[in-house]
Amino acid sequence: MSDKKATLTVDGLDGSIELPVYSGTLGPNVVDVGALTGKGLFTYDPGFVSTAACESQITYIDGEQGVLLHRGYPIDQLAENSDYLETCYLLLYGELPNAAQQEHFVGTVKRHTMVHEQISTFFNGFRRDAHPMAIMCGVVGALSAFYHDSTDISDENHREVAAFRLIAKMPTLAAMSYKFSVGQPFMYPDNSMGYAENFLHMMFGNPCEPSNISPVLAKAMDRIFLLHADHEQNASTSTVRLAGSSGANPFACIAAGIAALWGPSHGGANEAVLEMLEEIGDVSRIDEFVSRAKDKDDPFRLMGFGHRVYKNFDPRAKVMKEAADEVLAELGIDNEPLLAIAKRLEQIALEDPYFIERKLYPNVDFYSGIILKAIGIPTSMFTVIFAVGRTVGWIAHWHEMISGSYRIGRPRQLYTGYPQRDYVSIDGR
Ligand code: CMC
Repeated sequence: MSDKKATLTVDGLDGSIELPVYSGTLGPNVVDVGALTGKGLFTYDPGFVSTAACESQITYIDGEQGVLLHRGYPIDQLAENSDYLETCYLLLYGELPNAAQQEHFVGTVKRHTMVHEQISTFFNGFRRDAHPMAIMCGVVGALSAFYHDSTDISDENHREVAAFRLIAKMPTLAAMSYKFSVGQPFMYPDNSMGYAENFLHMMFGNPCEPSNISPVLAKAMDRIFLLHADHEQNASTSTVRLAGSSGANPFACIAAGIAALWGPSHGGANEAVLEMLEEIGDVSRIDEFVSRAKDKDDPFRLMGFGHRVYKNFDPRAKVMKEAADEVLAELGIDNEPLLAIAKRLEQIALEDPYFIERKLYPNVDFYSGIILKAIGIPTSMFTVIFAVGRTVGWIAHWHEMISGSYRIGRPRQLYTGYPQRDYVSIDGR
């Protein structure tokens, strides 16, 4: 597998250690440090800044160039020419579908959109003001209690059915979490509709009237799902892989991914961006917020800026910005104040040495909230929508791991606690 080697010498250790170096099809070479444990050594890399945790063929990112490829296809080409379900097929199966494969895939997803009727009673256990991400963590994990015929991870058919169920049911559960919070009846899916259209129907429809979903909004929603579909080994995907490496069932693993996504450093940033833009409130206050972001004594960060991997424009942010312009124009919203603030903030930050030196560029979350707001999605649902879109990426990675050779994920540590000491009884402490 490898004809290159790295040689490591360590103070206090006789001789040197030869480590194999692997080359992928793209990207940096990878040093296999697996042999170190036999020499009494571990590597130390908090935050996994330099660690490849697995081999994968799904998604490639070049952070310096701002490139994102799904199975080799650039994200901007997919956003322009494909749709969410076709991209799901690509991520899961590795190739774009032909017409028959596409028809079969879309038809199968549609047949799985409804959730077990008892799941609707499950929602009543939540407080009415529960955050929809809290509800999603619970109900997605609970799917493992309802679909026993797709939890045997050693059965390829079970794994595939679990994938279909998750992709199909996430929009239904997401819309239910919203309907619950506003006290409206849950809407059943309408399988005559497209994926994104159906989601909007379940979000905004009501049983008294036929839904009338704007094709412009459905297309924008579909593009948002597509742009979030996968992003290689990010925190939530790595969480799904780690949970899955113990042999946990797919629904439990995806619930773990949802939990990891929720934080503001990851998927929760889209909600935080909109709150920040609203707090800024006016272009005249941007400088104040930029100064706060640069102040080391202030924990405030410019939400929607910076990325662990991208040291250039996030290519999804570029598409998202264009989409925001298009959607607002098509909806006839020609002076959305938050878009004006966002554009000016981006301009100011990109000219500021602090952001230039640290290579902090707008990320996917910077413009998505503006489109979601224009569509009428409440802010608390933004991260849920990210979760719906990312579900396919989580499953594709989980499936890639389970169908290959894998071991339970078990990181080691640099222990800096007490050395061994003897127990002291309570009267001696
Ligand atoms: N505003 C101000 N300063 C920042 C920001 C920001 N948004 N992001 C990073 N920095 C500074 C940080 O203070 C540090 O400065 P210094 O070197 O002087 O200490 C430097 O840039 C490097 O930051 P880091 O925290 O070491 O970088 P990281 O790779 O660990 O974190 C990040 C990446 C995305 C968590 C971070 O940039 C951030 O908190 N951004 C805001 C939240 C956000 O938009 N998250 C969405 C990420 S994209 C979608 C997704 O993954 O879900």
